[in-house]
Amino acid sequence: MQITLTQDSFLNIPCDVLIVPIFKEETANPVLMEIDQALDGHVSKILSQIATCTDFGQTVPVYTFGKIKANNILLAGMGQVDELSLDKIRSISAITMRRVRQLNCSSIASIFLNEVFDKMFTLESVIQTVVEGAILGTYEFNYYKTKPQDKKPIKTICFFAKDSDRNAILLERARKGEIIANSVNNARNLVNHPSCYTTPSQMAQYAEELAKQYDLDCQVLDRNQMQEEKMHALLAVAKGSNEPPKMIILTYKGDPESSECIALIGKGITFDSGGISIKPAQGMGEMKDDMAGGASVLGTMEAIGQLRPKANIIAIVPCTENMPSGTALKPGDVIFSQKGTTIEIISTDAEGRLILADAVNHAIKLGATKIVDLATLTGACVIALGSAASGVLTNNEEWWGKLKAASLATGEKMWQLPAFEEYKEQIKSDIADLKNTGGRPAGTITAGLFIAHFAAETPWIHIDIAGTANSEKETGYNVKGATGVGVRTLVELIQRLATEHGI
Ligand code: BES
Ligand code: MN
Ligand code: ZN
Repeated sequence: MQITLTQDSFLNIPCDVLIVPIFKEETANPVLMEIDQALDGHVSKILSQIATCTDFGQTVPVYTFGKIKANNILLAGMGQVDELSLDKIRSISAITMRRVRQLNCSSIASIFLNEVFDKMFTLESVIQTVVEGAILGTYEFNYYKTKPQDKKPIKTICFFAKDSDRNAILLERARKGEIIANSVNNARNLVNHPSCYTTPSQMAQYAEELAKQYDLDCQVLDRNQMQEEKMHALLAVAKGSNEPPKMIILTYKGDPESSECIALIGKGITFDSGGISIKPAQGMGEMKDDMAGGASVLGTMEAIGQLRPKANIIAIVPCTENMPSGTALKPGDVIFSQKGTTIEIISTDAEGRLILADAVNHAIKLGATKIVDLATLTGACVIALGSAASGVLTNNEEWWGKLKAASLATGEKMWQLPAFEEYKEQIKSDIADLKNTGGRPAGTITAGLFIAHFAAETPWIHIDIAGTANSEKETGYNVKGATGVGVRTLVELIQRLATEHGI
């Protein structure tokens, strides 16, 4: 997708389709008036005939009969001006691009950069958002389709920008949008691939390739090295599988003078059968997604490697399958963790918190001063928050405040759940220090508090993405399947920290 800027009039740009945003109850829109005039008043006729065409997400294509250089215009309903947000612009960009592709158009011109948008959001953030929406919304996963797909890809998007002084920065922000959205799509790919493709070894190889391409440091621990590092909780989960486990550690040092280091940790269960506490057959295939947290952490590093902010980041993705077998972990077993804490296994299906326990402890050993973990951790989170928001647990309100601000900016909704002392009672064991489940009540909270034990004093945030890692339908910039949730917010967080305090 090639992105260009022009100072020319939108009537003069040859393209397959010109996208024209239209608002509800709009009085004088000079852009619309100019196009309407050029098209002999047809646009205003359509607007008066179809009352709903300004509703958010509506699209109406109009053929231009050679009256302007664009072959078609696409009216894009934006809804009420005062209800508009950047996230809605991202969605409308996705919706219009899918419509454009359906119409078999591949060269696009887009009128999103005018005074209205500048006043509300700044053109710089609008161009980034529109580019993100275009790339995210037209994502398709066709890897296993043996017949070629006949949709034309979108080749060019030309934006109209009056003020040429801002061209360089606008193009830079468009490029940033491209980097971020492509990183999200690559995370989606890892999740959408079945577990026979995305094995722990495959994830490790992918991380090594990322490291080479974007100049990151990569270390992959195998079973023996995990043993040396005493990662017994991770190894306990891996015991039942024939796939060798891998611990991925990617490091980016963008601020060598600082001792601050942010750890991004992602759950990398490449398939969760439940182990001996096996899951019901129905829907078990969905558990190929149980490495979505790990995929998003790798996606974040892909973007960081290109944007190169002034920050030190360590990404840790513990990868293994959770399988039943004669060598598998069993309910009732007691295991050690790297930290030394003993854990009674109540359910082998509560495996995510086990591998995260060792990953969090290892991050602290490696010098992490702040931690965010991302995991498809509990079905309870899907019951509590559905697919609209990820669940959050933290031991540090200030650290969470920063992530929350970043998530408000990216539109990836997150909701904090309480970490009250009372809940800790549920994970106390009679025969060990902790047990790995606290029963059904407050399942997301007790899972989070289990991990909190290993974070100890280090500022830590846990994001449960069980309900948000996948979308059941096409909505806005998400398509059916993996969403790549978390990448955009983590990138935003790191960039904010890098510019604000030079962490
Ligand atoms: N990977 C699952 C959680 C999950 C469920 C993710 C549904 C996405 C959709 C996790 O490992 C798990 O099995 N959790 C158990 C915990 C329980 C045994 C305490 C659960 O949620 O049932
Ligand atoms: Mn499980
Ligand atoms: Zn799991």
